[in-house]
Amino acid sequence: MNDSDIEHKLATRCIHAGDTVDAATGAVMPAIATSTIYRQSAFNEPGEHIYARASNPTRDALERCVAELESGVRGLAFASGMAATANVLELLDAGDHMIAPTSIYGGSLRLFRQVRTRTSALEFSFVDFSDPANVEQAIKSNTRLIWIETPTNPLLNIIDIEATAALARAHDILIAVDNTFATPCVQRPLEAGCDIVMHSTTKYLGGHSDALGGLIVVADEQLGKQLASLRSAVGGVAGPFDAYLVLRGIKTLALRMERHQANAMTVAKWLADRPQAERVYYPGLDEHPRHEIATRQMDGYGGVVSFVLRGGLGEVGAFLNALRVFTLAESLGGVESLVGHPATMSHSSLPAEERAKLGITDNLIRLSVGIEHVDDLLADLDLALDM
Ligand SMILES: Cc1ncc(COP(=O)(O)O)c(C=O)c1O
Repeated sequence: MNDSDIEHKLATRCIHAGDTVDAATGAVMPAIATSTIYRQSAFNEPGEHIYARASNPTRDALERCVAELESGVRGLAFASGMAATANVLELLDAGDHMIAPTSIYGGSLRLFRQVRTRTSALEFSFVDFSDPANVEQAIKSNTRLIWIETPTNPLLNIIDIEATAALARAHDILIAVDNTFATPCVQRPLEAGCDIVMHSTTKYLGGHSDALGGLIVVADEQLGKQLASLRSAVGGVAGPFDAYLVLRGIKTLALRMERHQANAMTVAKWLADRPQAERVYYPGLDEHPRHEIATRQMDGYGGVVSFVLRGGLGEVGAFLNALRVFTLAESLGGVESLVGHPATMSHSSLPAEERAKLGITDNLIRLSVGIEHVDDLLADLDLALDM
């Protein structure tokens, strides 16, 4: 949409953001531009596009769209969420220090701890963000980046975005937020003072479990230029087919998130009343320790619910194998309901003792609540819990 347009609601912007109508042909959806190369009109006169690692029209359309939805100035699309995260780390120099929460997506922890400490000599402090004093105490003279994720995967911890952004700003430290679980329909960290938003578009933005991708959006042009130049150097860009699928997925994002969130709330409340569920993690429940912060900074509480099943691996296996509507699979955020076992799936790269310390026990189950009819989801869970 043009600057002159009045401010539309997010559900409208999901459909129109990024001005994707092709000016030359009037095509409402952008073409999937497959060419990797672009002719120069004359010597030393390159056009808008030069080479697909630097830019591609389909990818550009997706980047404009998400930049607008996240209230940023520039978006950059990547081949995966991890490629997007890795590109943010390219901002740092060897020996720089980063602060991150103890419990976030296992793949991010693996990149930070098992790869970048070794290959980039980055230093990390992992702290409990529920007390801002922990974060402040962890700040050192070489701290360059605070990385947060909220709600966190898989325990649905909530981090106060505004307070953490204020702290980062006071110390002149960049702050990046993995907004995968919330999406811009639910929270927009750049509006709360953050510098960088990251997404695994493989999840809700794509929404149909058929495209792997990642995105970063920034609030500052200069930072955007720097990250684009780093992406060009490192090369983890999104391909045009995947960019198209994510762009198409975003058209229904607001509608899907409404249903994901309504279903997740119903499932969480229902589970909380089941004797087989020892504990339910969902920020929408009054008893969630950070419920008030979630209510303040989110528009809804997301579509993921985790719970601790009474019993051990035997009970977990029986439950997982009995489900018929929930599919046992990695990932989350697709239209279909998925069930995951973090200890052996998303967080298997963490040592067992550390998982236990974080609360990622062997009987923790993560549900990505889809957009099916909620009665069918409850009936499925009910049958499986009785196994
Ligand atoms: C919160 C979060 N961030 C990042 C990622 C990584 O994204 P991708 O799998 O697209 O590389 C995931 C994947 O599960 C995730 O859940």
